[in-house]
Amino acid sequence: MSNTVDFGIDLGTTSSALARMMRKGPEIVPTRSGQKTLPSAVRITDGGNLLVGDEATDKWPCRSQFKRDMGATVRYEMGSREMSPVELSAEVLKELKYSASRRYEVDMDQAVITVPAMFSQPQCQATHEAAALASIDAVTLLQEPIAAATAYLSDDPEDGQYLVFDLGGGTFDVSIILMKQKEMHVVHHGGDNYLGGSDFDKKVQQWICSEIGTELSSIPEPERWGMSKSVERAKIKLSDLETTDVDLSDVKGVHAPRFTLTRERLNELVRDDIDRTIRIAREQLAECKLDASDMRSVLLVGGPTQMPIVRNRLRQELGIPLNLDQDPMTVVACGAAIHASALPRRSSERTTTSAGVDLELHYECVTNERTAHVSGRIANRDSFAGEVRIQRSNGDWDTGWIALRNGAFVTELELSKDIVTEFSVEVRDSSGATITSSPNTFAIRSGIAAAAPVAPYNYGVALEDGSCKWIVKAGASLPVRERVELPAAASVERGSDETVFVHFLEGKSEHADDNVRRGHVVICGRDISRPIRPGDKVTVTIRMDESRLIRAVVELEKEEREWEARFHSLTDEPPIEDLREMIRRTQDDLERIDLVVSEDDQGGVNGLLRELEVLEADVENLRYGEPGQSERVLTKISDLRSRVRKFSQKYMPAAKREEAEGVLDEAEVLAANAGDQIDLATVRELKGDLEKAEVLGDKKLTESILERGRNIWAKHYMNTPECWRGQIDWLRPRYLLVSNPSQFHEYVRRAEACLNDRDLQGARINCIEARELLPASEKHIERFGGSLI
Ligand SMILES: Nc1ncnc2c1ncn2[C@@H]1O[C@H](COP(=O)(O)OP(=O)(O)OP(=O)(O)O)[C@@H](O)[C@H]1O
Ligand SMILES: [Mg+2]
Repeated sequence: MSNTVDFGIDLGTTSSALARMMRKGPEIVPTRSGQKTLPSAVRITDGGNLLVGDEATDKWPCRSQFKRDMGATVRYEMGSREMSPVELSAEVLKELKYSASRRYEVDMDQAVITVPAMFSQPQCQATHEAAALASIDAVTLLQEPIAAATAYLSDDPEDGQYLVFDLGGGTFDVSIILMKQKEMHVVHHGGDNYLGGSDFDKKVQQWICSEIGTELSSIPEPERWGMSKSVERAKIKLSDLETTDVDLSDVKGVHAPRFTLTRERLNELVRDDIDRTIRIAREQLAECKLDASDMRSVLLVGGPTQMPIVRNRLRQELGIPLNLDQDPMTVVACGAAIHASALPRRSSERTTTSAGVDLELHYECVTNERTAHVSGRIANRDSFAGEVRIQRSNGDWDTGWIALRNGAFVTELELSKDIVTEFSVEVRDSSGATITSSPNTFAIRSGIAAAAPVAPYNYGVALEDGSCKWIVKAGASLPVRERVELPAAASVERGSDETVFVHFLEGKSEHADDNVRRGHVVICGRDISRPIRPGDKVTVTIRMDESRLIRAVVELEKEEREWEARFHSLTDEPPIEDLREMIRRTQDDLERIDLVVSEDDQGGVNGLLRELEVLEADVENLRYGEPGQSERVLTKISDLRSRVRKFSQKYMPAAKREEAEGVLDEAEVLAANAGDQIDLATVRELKGDLEKAEVLGDKKLTESILERGRNIWAKHYMNTPECWRGQIDWLRPRYLLVSNPSQFHEYVRRAEACLNDRDLQGARINCIEARELLPASEKHIERFGGSLI
């Protein structure tokens, strides 16, 4: 076996592929049924046999698309057992391992596995776990677009920028790659983890159902699955034909055994999704301040890029030449194998016998030159006297015998014309006797090294003021280790039960609330040896390796120990309450913008409001759906918020002013009714200041007036019966959530009685007592409450 990893795996949503780097270049390893790709599908037969790939897709219940749920604790029912997305992915990997052993008689125990560029941290972690379950012990994760670019550009590319457009079965990635003096750099990544060919299939299925007057959800799952297979086959045919039939003869309850689908209709159905891909590509270019004309070519990756509509729209809208040199279905696996050929195998054990020597070799695994510099040292014998000879494995060139000096040597190797040149090493001692050396072979690849992977998002911590401190920035080359010192914002007594948090975030927004909470550290008064005071030094360190595995620790001044962050799986996060809160805030923002929006932008805002309604329904349905869906909804909400933000920047100053005016008007009435002359004077003063703020265009001043107005409003509103009437109405149905409903009823009853007696103070106290009985999630705890920093 060679001393480099050599195997590359594209673990896809719908299909997976395995490639191995050979002397002449990457070779796709055929599956058991002789295909170049393996359906990422698993089925358990009635007899309990587990089938993977083509055999699995024959019949229902076949499980596929589990890559979309990687990192979530979803379970798939498989006959009498249940399997997680990690276990199902492991079965696909085991099948690929089998293909490797069948073809090369080797145990593929190390490999490069590709993941979408925008895979989040728990999704990468889950991919590692799947590999470990499949006994692929040493795994490097590589982002799919980097793998694809490596395959497209490994052969002497021209300097310049390239756009990787990877539209797969379930994910869409777009990356900008820079080639400069034969070095590859990733300039930018973007995409959508939940957009791909299977969404097109779903749209066609929904259209067929509407044509025949049926709801897709009313078709039993096995038939729905059969229908999706027929639709997918038809969709693929329409990349070559203008019209085809969808065979629905096996779909019970559908009284149309054949259904004609034209390319035109398909194009219409997927138009929105294709628009979205082009919009994302444009956004990525704009974020890098680049124009489409700055791109040398588009590198096409993924099955759906074979659709004429995708190619035509790319040509028309971006006007960049398309590179069609590689097979979009296998280019990712080939790139992964090329990358793998530059990774030395990790060896857990030294295989030399006591009579042999351990040879420590240093060389670049990939080079653009025709020669390579190599140095070596005998690591297990002091001052070994002897000679070493390196020869090309095909025997047509060698270095001759080189005398070791202090057990070490340096030499220059001539590479062959093949992509990979293999060398063998011989060692002999001073008497001329051959000594076994480990390793005794190695290989050097000619070409371009894959770009270093980069962090797809920012990683950092939430701060007490609602902002965030990014520690590892999106685009940072991996591996990375960054450390920051921040002042504590909270105070904690030693030995107390007080707890404070450090919340770890992944995302792109400067507002903590708009990002995803990935992990946290909890520090309790009982765990510290001295009190924490505001301003104390808190050190946060985040490490991320090439495969995006993350570790984070928090250290406190003068404390011996450190606190390691616990990272959540996808189902812990984002909780439904967080999603609801994001929807609520987006709705508030949009409604405010709606009051002041110009006629030109009204249509855009209305469209966003409609999208928000759909998302709101999605969030509510999550409670009853599969937990893995929450990440999908979150991606959509984040996308919507980023579009709302564009309007916010334009209209928010006006909207904030409008809101401040309303709040001050109400506060004025309440303060007047309460006879509070001081507050009344303050409100009137604030109204004057608001006018000044408008003239000066001072956004900060407007916000501070709004905040002060709200405080005065709240103070007086709490002294109105309406306030406590509203509270009681909110509390009453929540007895279902408490463990002591009779106590809860009692507080609510007393609050009501106090209110009827106009005893507002009594109503307030009883409402607070009732509220205390509610579970934390219902008490409306601040999302980043109790923050240490
Ligand atoms: N000729 C074709 N025309 C249109 N679509 C195709 C064609 N061939 C395959 N597809 C579609 O491509 C998708 C699979 O593509 P691919 O294998 O690149 O994705 P994947 O790697 O499994 O997914 P991902 O990269 O999202 O994890 C499927 O939806 C399939 O229906
Ligand atoms: Mg893919």
